[in-house]
Amino acid sequence: MNIHGQYALITGGASGMGATAARFLTEKGAKVVLFDRDLAAATQLAESLGGKAFGVDVADAASVEKAFAEMATQSIQIRACINCAGIAPAKRIVGKEGVMPLEDFNRVIQVNLIGTFNVMRMAAAMMSQLAPMGDSDERGIIINTASIAAFEGQIGQAAYSASKGGVVAMGLPAARELARFGIRVMTIAPGFVATPMMAGMPQTVQDNLAAQVPFPHRLAKPEEYAMLAYHIIENTMLNGEVIRMDGATRMV
Ligand SMILES: NC(=O)c1ccc[n+]([C@@H]2O[C@H](COP(=O)([O-])OP(=O)(O)OC[C@H]3O[C@@H](n4cnc5c(N)ncnc54)[C@H](O)[C@@H]3O)[C@@H](O)[C@H]2O)c1
Repeated sequence: MNIHGQYALITGGASGMGATAARFLTEKGAKVVLFDRDLAAATQLAESLGGKAFGVDVADAASVEKAFAEMATQSIQIRACINCAGIAPAKRIVGKEGVMPLEDFNRVIQVNLIGTFNVMRMAAAMMSQLAPMGDSDERGIIINTASIAAFEGQIGQAAYSASKGGVVAMGLPAARELARFGIRVMTIAPGFVATPMMAGMPQTVQDNLAAQVPFPHRLAKPEEYAMLAYHIIENTMLNGEVIRMDGATRMV
């Protein structure tokens, strides 16, 4: 998919990998639409990029549907959708404060898994109505963001790993189903990336995580995620696959 001149929707676009992907895609000639629950930050970035921002809670069906309806009235037709919105609270099933409240588990699944599906379903519906493009008759590309915690979750990550495992698992059936519309679905599973989400962890934890990366022996840069997302958009043969971006990290 040649994204130049086309709209790309990025959820979680106000911060971290989503924000960096928005800058990168703008440099490549795309027009970006940012969905974020932090409308002020999303608006500030979108204005600097000549894009659009919507205050959206990806976990809420009505919120996402309203934003898509608004995009339709503004004749915004997205060709790429990058799902980056996510949360990563760590909590033990049975911790010092007692048993994990079910609502805590529920919230992580609601944002990371159901939120990704929520946006993917609306993006696919919009893309399915567009004219096919290029020599592959492609209509759109959806990139979901999982995590290596989908495969090797750590203590305290039962909810997060379950949510990201769900994102990984739905990628192939979604790609198979949406193939008839010429819509691809890909998943990126990052390792440890230097974003505000990571900065929320104590420095010792960040140093320990970086020490686990065989090569390059450091945290990933959000720009590396943006480069990968851009390559996936451009390379039409990539479909129904999960790509780890982790410097060969395999958490034990
Ligand atoms: N940083 C890492 O090391 C890492 C590793 C693996 C996977 N990931 C995943 O990558 C994605 C991006 O992470 P990041 O590090 O850039 O995080 P980040 O915290 O910098 O950005 C996440 C963005 O999502 C938004 N958001 C959160 N909940 C939302 C909701 N319900 N509706 C709309 N917006 C919402 C936040 O406001 C924020 O702008 C997340 O899905 C995260 O789980 C991150």
